[in-house]
Amino acid sequence: MPMMGRIAAPVLAGAVVLNAVIAAIGGQPVVVPAPQEMTLTGGEFRTELPPKVEKVAAIPPEGYELSVTPKGVTVRHSDAAGLFYAEMTLAQLAWTDGGAKVYPCVEIKDTPAFGWRGVHIDECRHFFGKERVKRIMELMAQHKLNRLHWHLTDDQGWRLDVPGYPELVKRGAVRDASPLHGTRPNVRKAKDCSKDLNGEKYGPFFYTEADVREMIAYAAERHITIVPEIELPGHVYAVLAAYPEFACDPERMKGKRPLCIWGIEKDVLCVGNDRAVKFMEDVLDYVCRLFPGDTVHIGGDECPTVRWKTCPKCRARIAAEGLKDENDLQPWFTRRFLKFIEARGKRVVGWDEYLLGDVPKSAIGMSWRAGGGGAGHKFLTPLECVTRGHDLVMTPKYFCYFDYGQGLEADPFQYWGGCVTLEKAYSFDPCEGIPPELRGHILGGQCNNWSEYTWNEYDLDWKMWPRTCALAEVLWTGEKRPGFDDFKRRMATHRRRLIAQGVNCAPLE
Ligand code: ACM
Ligand code: ZN
Repeated sequence: MPMMGRIAAPVLAGAVVLNAVIAAIGGQPVVVPAPQEMTLTGGEFRTELPPKVEKVAAIPPEGYELSVTPKGVTVRHSDAAGLFYAEMTLAQLAWTDGGAKVYPCVEIKDTPAFGWRGVHIDECRHFFGKERVKRIMELMAQHKLNRLHWHLTDDQGWRLDVPGYPELVKRGAVRDASPLHGTRPNVRKAKDCSKDLNGEKYGPFFYTEADVREMIAYAAERHITIVPEIELPGHVYAVLAAYPEFACDPERMKGKRPLCIWGIEKDVLCVGNDRAVKFMEDVLDYVCRLFPGDTVHIGGDECPTVRWKTCPKCRARIAAEGLKDENDLQPWFTRRFLKFIEARGKRVVGWDEYLLGDVPKSAIGMSWRAGGGGAGHKFLTPLECVTRGHDLVMTPKYFCYFDYGQGLEADPFQYWGGCVTLEKAYSFDPCEGIPPELRGHILGGQCNNWSEYTWNEYDLDWKMWPRTCALAEVLWTGEKRPGFDDFKRRMATHRRRLIAQGVNCAPLE
């Protein structure tokens, strides 16, 4: 078996040099995320051969066992992901000596605490592009993270070329300007933000079908599932700029462009318009066919109903469907798309407010407002969601929003606000407040990297790392993680590995 073949060369170069130094000074090997069980048995094994690999059906999915003795290296696993994660651990343990690899003698038994170990990237507010997102996936794989939640559509840009709807990228993937660094323009607070804008066209930035296929293949090699997000029925200003006829009041939207500033927009999809509904079906049919993963995200957050209240088409829909009022329109729309997407063999996930109202329990929630409301909207607590029978991916903002500050004394970068220190990220408990009998509904968690105030890979790196290492340990090692002091000790070394790979990793404090 060609061990290490899939691991990027800089990882090895960075890791093995450091590992040799650690070994030379008698230090402990550094593995992040920490394995569930790891015992150093003394001594080391030097080899030019690949490890012995055994398939053992009883090992749980994604799990592995690793044994390094003075006689050899053995990996046991039951599936390809488990073998891959054993390789990731071996890469963190090994150092080179001439043409040989040297490993500390160790016994490891390891399986993930949670199945959904995610990273969300917002490519609408700022666009990062294929190579940068691939690099994020490479780093995710090294940390045994397995879901890339790809936020592809929002008010400020539509990033996916969809057959039959050319204006989506011609008009929807470019905005006229962006906020100047250091300013905080917001649609809710200011009518005229022009003094805060840089006057530079941003885009067109989007992914073609070929690009997406390339990303899917790259992800699959690293056991990462891409979860595409197509926002509906709110956060669709870029759609309405491209196709004003899908708004409740098309005249108002004529000549409009994707937004240059951030906030919650009142102009949303006209769910009373059959053509607008058919448009979303066409998009989601394409997305279901293009992405092989088991889940599609349909957004659902922050959708004001004010336009629906007076729109004749929306009122007609309320009457025809026997709904009470405009507040029932989003649950109606969600039910429709749940059925549509589930008929294509996928599960649907959406931000927690899309579960408000009459929504079948097969809908997965992404809980972001646990621990405190959000923009004045109602929301369901995680306990309410799971009591109703929904599965949840936990991403509470006070633990998982890495666009929030990280409490560093000197920090050159701008943040949305808030504060999630490294210690706070490490203290995240996805099952907080959920009784044991309902914990099966907690699929896992993820960090959200909203990019309103994140311009490029330098500040994205800084905000993601090292907090993503803490998240990885929460989601992989779970309750058995060895504690923040131990994590910090390991991170002092592991951070240097990240830097050796060119990651602009923030300090630990
Ligand atoms: C969100 O942060 N609006 C999901
Ligand atoms: Zn309408």
